[in-house]
Amino acid sequence: MNPIQRFRFDRDKLSITWTDGSASELQALWLRDHCQMPASRNLANGQRLLNITDIPLDIGIADASLDGHRLVIDFTGDGHRSEFDLDWLRNNCYCLNQAQDDRSEAGKTLWDKQFFEDGLPRCHYAGFCNQPGARLAALRAVRDLGFVVLDGVDCESGEILQVIKQFGFVRETNYGPLFDVRTTVDPTNLAFTNLGLGCHLDNPYRDPVPGLQLLHCLESSTTGGESILQDGFMAAGILRQENPAHFELLSRNWINFRFRDGASDLQARVPFIEVNDHQQVIKVRFNNRSIDTLKLPPAIMREFYPAYRHYAEILEREELQVVFKLQPGELMLFDNTRILHARKAYSATGTRHLQGAYSDLDGLYSSLRRLESDA
Ligand SMILES: [Fe+2]
Repeated sequence: MNPIQRFRFDRDKLSITWTDGSASELQALWLRDHCQMPASRNLANGQRLLNITDIPLDIGIADASLDGHRLVIDFTGDGHRSEFDLDWLRNNCYCLNQAQDDRSEAGKTLWDKQFFEDGLPRCHYAGFCNQPGARLAALRAVRDLGFVVLDGVDCESGEILQVIKQFGFVRETNYGPLFDVRTTVDPTNLAFTNLGLGCHLDNPYRDPVPGLQLLHCLESSTTGGESILQDGFMAAGILRQENPAHFELLSRNWINFRFRDGASDLQARVPFIEVNDHQQVIKVRFNNRSIDTLKLPPAIMREFYPAYRHYAEILEREELQVVFKLQPGELMLFDNTRILHARKAYSATGTRHLQGAYSDLDGLYSSLRRLESDA
């Protein structure tokens, strides 16, 4: 069905009234830039073949006409002819469609402890591997809630890397492709002791930060050592609600994170709370162990500490933290730009052995979009 009710054009723009009553007004320059013809786009992958500097700034519309389900436009200036599929125009026009953004708080389901009273988002690993519907649900949980727990994963060292290959790629770091979390003698990192760890996100000192973390439980016979997860977007939203000035201080003023050992000196200058051009939260960072020396302008330092302390206090609220004990064969996969994790202290007797690894969000989102388009 033809979705256009009527259209008109002048040199600068094309005005369309759609049959549903909505309207679009499209600049000539945008139309030329978004030409879908073979001379302008690679038909196999849709990639643009022309540069913006190839298009005169004063390009205009010389003529526009309907040809079946296509709108044909002749341009002044370079004399180019473009044919736009009407559905493509309706689905892509910038008047009626917002920019794609599936990372910000706006598209997420924010949660607190109570949210999971009926259980955590879970998926059996065999289903994750073999059933597209099960995998789709699990990856959607990571996108929308920020995490999923896979169960039935073989308790084999290195199995975590096979899990990552199911949806993306391993993000190797100076810790190697994976790292072991268990009590060790003379640890270089507090994670490798039996101490409790406060809520944090991993590796804020890396640029870019790994977008995904996986923790796979291989052995667990200690007392304690429960895992804690927390929605950092929810916490940032609470900070904004309780004190907008505190939120702004933490999103506007960037700080340094750093990790050093005998072989590495990793540093990144980033904010605690990162927002997009609509002031929506897109990433949070918090890691008490790796905040470097705070060096802010003197006038800001005095205001910064109450805001920083307020944020840290929100992150300690138990009503925001979901607590569970990861059992052997279980693996939690979580968004390391949103979900804080923590660990309760555990006994020195017994064995607790987790393996961890990183991956990136773009690979997971890519797999998710392919599954959604096939569904
Ligand atoms: Fe961690």
